[in-house]
Amino acid sequence: MRAVVTRPGAGRAWLADIPRPTIQRHDEVLVQMLRVGVCGTDRHVIARAISATRGLPDGDDYLVLGHEAVGRVVEVGPMVSSVGVGDLVVPTVRRGCDECAACAVGQADLCFTGNVRERGIVGLHGFLTELIVEQQDHLIRVPEELAEVAPLVESLCTPEKALRRIGNARAHLPMNGAVPGGVARALVTGSGPIAILAVLALRLRGVATWMLARRPATSAAARVAETCGATYVCLSDVDLEAPQASIGAFDAIIEATGAAELAVAMLSALAPNGVLDLVGGSQERKAVPVHASVLAAMMVRNLTLLGSVNANSADWQAAVADLGDMRRQFPGAVEAIITDVLSMRDVDVAFERTPDRIKVVIVVDGGA
Ligand code: BGC
Repeated sequence: MRAVVTRPGAGRAWLADIPRPTIQRHDEVLVQMLRVGVCGTDRHVIARAISATRGLPDGDDYLVLGHEAVGRVVEVGPMVSSVGVGDLVVPTVRRGCDECAACAVGQADLCFTGNVRERGIVGLHGFLTELIVEQQDHLIRVPEELAEVAPLVESLCTPEKALRRIGNARAHLPMNGAVPGGVARALVTGSGPIAILAVLALRLRGVATWMLARRPATSAAARVAETCGATYVCLSDVDLEAPQASIGAFDAIIEATGAAELAVAMLSALAPNGVLDLVGGSQERKAVPVHASVLAAMMVRNLTLLGSVNANSADWQAAVADLGDMRRQFPGAVEAIITDVLSMRDVDVAFERTPDRIKVVIVVDGGA
């Protein structure tokens, strides 16, 4: 069967013919893949080996790419009860280390050892292929109405976890709200899929939301933000030395660009008791200066800086529910995130970054 594969660090992806998987265990499910999203992490995997020893699945000299996917169940093992043939499912990404307390209770997103494997990213084949086999516990059922946009469920897990973490960090405050701790004003930095979905998730909760990014105010990302009632601000209009002068102060900031300078600058945009969550990151080895007064302000204002990666099953379930609600509450906004629908034959261009692209989705051969 056909698959889009790479070798981490190879600098390119290509089409390959790989063996069809079959159900081996009683709790396994055979899934026909339908649509797979491309994300920045795929580009990192292609460009640079995440780990020389752990990158490739055992015994193979290639890695099937793709971790944002939707497919349809075509066969189930005898012990499978949570999904049935014909169901639409989204597979989760991370598999635990089998060593730590978090992974032991199914919270691999909080793994203490770092020895996790992630489908399509590190150590396990991904979903950009015709068929996959997966254990039922790693499949999330999604309603038919989400079939076209369901690869975004994985992207939305990141803001869902961010909102959960921000809520936890503010849970002690004497205010309530749709995000615990009464987040009244929020900022999202970036204009990629995760940033847009974070804005939609905040607007769904009625939070006054700003989006700050480099793209012009006429860009598709800015338009989506504004149609759901958020305020779009162009990065060039903000003095990063004194951001509050132009955009005010925020109870919560989700930093989704991965630019360290911006993350540091945004610490100065937090309101008292504010929380800044980093959901993007850069592997660049460069120093970014932080004024001592910025750290002092963190102390004086009870600020929290945190980072969050991956997601647990509650975040996946929240993402499925919220994606449906977003489509109903902000018609066209979710669909506008998917700017390019390509086929597996487009492998040479599918992973390129172009100015107008937000999310590329690849339709899997035989899965249309
Ligand atoms: C994926 C996560 C994954 C992370 C780190 C992200 O792109 O969405 O599921 O945990 O990369 O590899």
